[in-house]
Amino acid sequence: MQRCLQLARLVVGYTSPNPLVGAVVVKDGKIVGEGFHPGAGEPHAEVFALRDAGEQARGATVYVNLEPCNHYGRTPPCSEALIKAGVAKVVVGMVDPNPLVSGRGIAKLQAAGVDVLTGVEEADCRLLNEGFIHRVLYHKPFGILKYAMTLDGKIATSSGHSTWVTNDATRQAVHRLRSACDAVIIGGNTVRQDNPHLTNHGQGNHSPLRVVMSRHLNLPSSANLWNTDNAQTVVLTKVGANPEFQALLYRQGVEVVELEPLTPNQVMTYFYNRGFCKVLWECGGILAANAIAQGAVQKVLAFIAPKIIGGVKAPGPVGNLGFATMNEALSLQCAEMHVIGSDFLITGYLPKH
Ligand SMILES: NC(=O)c1ccc[n+]([C@@H]2O[C@H](COP(=O)([O-])OP(=O)(O)OC[C@H]3O[C@@H](n4cnc5c(N)ncnc54)[C@H](OP(=O)(O)O)[C@@H]3O)[C@@H](O)[C@H]2O)c1
Ligand SMILES: [Zn+2]
Repeated sequence: MQRCLQLARLVVGYTSPNPLVGAVVVKDGKIVGEGFHPGAGEPHAEVFALRDAGEQARGATVYVNLEPCNHYGRTPPCSEALIKAGVAKVVVGMVDPNPLVSGRGIAKLQAAGVDVLTGVEEADCRLLNEGFIHRVLYHKPFGILKYAMTLDGKIATSSGHSTWVTNDATRQAVHRLRSACDAVIIGGNTVRQDNPHLTNHGQGNHSPLRVVMSRHLNLPSSANLWNTDNAQTVVLTKVGANPEFQALLYRQGVEVVELEPLTPNQVMTYFYNRGFCKVLWECGGILAANAIAQGAVQKVLAFIAPKIIGGVKAPGPVGNLGFATMNEALSLQCAEMHVIGSDFLITGYLPKH
């Protein structure tokens, strides 16, 4: 199953709105076929693995991290392909998260006499596809809020300077995280103050769509994000905002989309319709607080550098949430701490909205 996950990860960032799936065919204790789903419109992982195994699939065990499908979509159902290939056993990481079809692929296999085992390495399988699972269940992409702060809780100095809060290894980890996401979002202030690139800097193959939310488009006419040679940029704004600036962006290959209302919730609906599974909020505290308040953030990744910068006016990672007492605090679930060189990473999930 871990090999299935490794295969699935080869195309991390490329499969949305589809899940990351790998499959392995084992005969007499040896791997005789492997495959992964390359992306929407392509055959599923099981089909590639069965093709790779050929005649050796007969009587073999197939491992796959997600329940084989049982419906005619762009490809015929994998449950049928497995039965036709004559496999003896299928080991499934997790059942299909869609309650309308969940368990049907397994039932079809069992009805044909195939032995099925489910829930193998299930936690890892769920983690790999947490974006896809959230999308299927809630009809929104999975939101991740990432920020880098000092030990005293500042994301920039009081003058707004923030390059860099964390060490090299942490910044590489952030670049890898970006390549696993479909989009990375910031607000207008971050463009004005930091002029970021928001690319993966060669960590991973995939570049996420770079997204700026700006109400009035009072943005610099030249910015790293307007260079679209290596990665695409979309600016989300209010209806009718600054037509001259919109024209300037179009000329540089930047897409402009007007949303009404321009809110994190609306943005997540828009990206659901664009087929996205995972959206990374890399914004400052004002937009982050709004995104949390509207339920657009499910997971938090807080990179903490053991440095102290001070400054009464230096910004923190989350602006005003309107809470007055400590018992209103949002307690992260399944919180974990990791060490990255001299920095620390705390991850966890926000309570369900
Ligand atoms: N250390 C870190 O991890 C990190 C990461 C990002 C930023 N920063 C720092 O954070 C500071 C900027 O913070 P910020 O909070 O102002 O961040 P921001 O990411 O620029 O978000 C605020 C901006 O988002 C735009 N926006 C559009 N719709 C919005 C909505 N519905 N609600 C809220 N905002 C909306 C507005 O842009 P318009 O004004 O153009 O309309 C607003 O000024 C900078 O100093 C930057 O260095 C640090
Ligand atoms: Zn399938």
